[in-house]
Amino acid sequence: EKGTYPHYMLKEIDEQPAVLRKIIQAYQDDNGNLTIDPAILTALKEADRLYIIAAGTSYHAGLVGKEYFEKIAGIPVEVHISSEFGYNIPLLSKKPLFIFITQSGETADSRQVLVKVKKMGYPSLTVTNVQGSTLSREADHTLLLHAGPEIAVASTKAYVAQIAVLAIAATVFAESQALPVGFDLTQELGIVANAVQAMVDAKDEMEQIARDFLEVTRNAFFIGRQLDYHVSLEGALKLKEISYIQAEGFAGGELKHGTIALIEEGTPVFALATQEEVSLNIRGNVKEVVARGANPCIISMAGLDEEGDTLVIPHVHPLLTPLVSVVPLQLISYYASLHRGCDVDKPRNLAKSVTVE
Ligand code: F6R
Repeated sequence: EKGTYPHYMLKEIDEQPAVLRKIIQAYQDDNGNLTIDPAILTALKEADRLYIIAAGTSYHAGLVGKEYFEKIAGIPVEVHISSEFGYNIPLLSKKPLFIFITQSGETADSRQVLVKVKKMGYPSLTVTNVQGSTLSREADHTLLLHAGPEIAVASTKAYVAQIAVLAIAATVFAESQALPVGFDLTQELGIVANAVQAMVDAKDEMEQIARDFLEVTRNAFFIGRQLDYHVSLEGALKLKEISYIQAEGFAGGELKHGTIALIEEGTPVFALATQEEVSLNIRGNVKEVVARGANPCIISMAGLDEEGDTLVIPHVHPLLTPLVSVVPLQLISYYASLHRGCDVDKPRNLAKSVTVE
């Protein structure tokens, strides 16, 4: 039930701090330590490479998950679009573990890959919001998102939940192998939940950004580097699917290799600047587009912010910034859709769960 909310999407965006807290609880043992099914830890230990398979927003969460498994858990990861992978299976490592990320657990493109890799005898894990869903039943293992039902076609809280659960899996695995993690994930996710709350409480500001940058435009660009690049892909997808504004996410350094030709006077460019290592680089990329007339909306993180930034998100652990920076992008898309009179919860041509290949 959407209760007093005008749309499910807004309700689901608002639920995100609670979803994060729910996930922490769901993955805590009696002593308050994060934990996951020991059988999954064993599967991760036996694997020499993880293959993350997903579509759409879940694929974007997978790109972030790759960073966690590689940087925290020390396991190499490939992330693949399910509709491509099944028909062009790459040369696999000796001991692959397949991880399917799927909110619904019913996506046909992802299921056909599971069917194929099962036939090949490989182990599998489904990360899903729906217990008892097809991919959950058919995979060897399941990690649940605990996000509650997601009704709006545009995925919001499931993306945040996927990233949080992948962070937990990577961290718990690293701890189980006595690898140095260097932070307390429970505590850091608590800080993230508060930061997400601050973002959803700033709806008026997000609505104003939608007015300032997206009221009349035909197109928009999203740029970022490292983790911010992955989030820029998700920001562009959200905007496209519910507002019908043509939007693309780009690696900050890549725009100038062709696409910068599309920048005109007033073209909105959303730039994410939450990663210290590439902070100067992304600022340089913003200058490149501004010199061609772009209207830049800079979303930075406290500590890396500069005068003139459009929005500053609260400081969180650098690996967890996607959980926070995506929230303003979701809200900005929501208001752009609303102002354009689009059907926010049921955009044209889309279904919540895509059960055909
Ligand atoms: C975007 C969106 C889709 C889904 C994709 C995968 O907002 O909802 O891109 O993310 O169809 O769906 P699941 O995660 O159910 O496999």
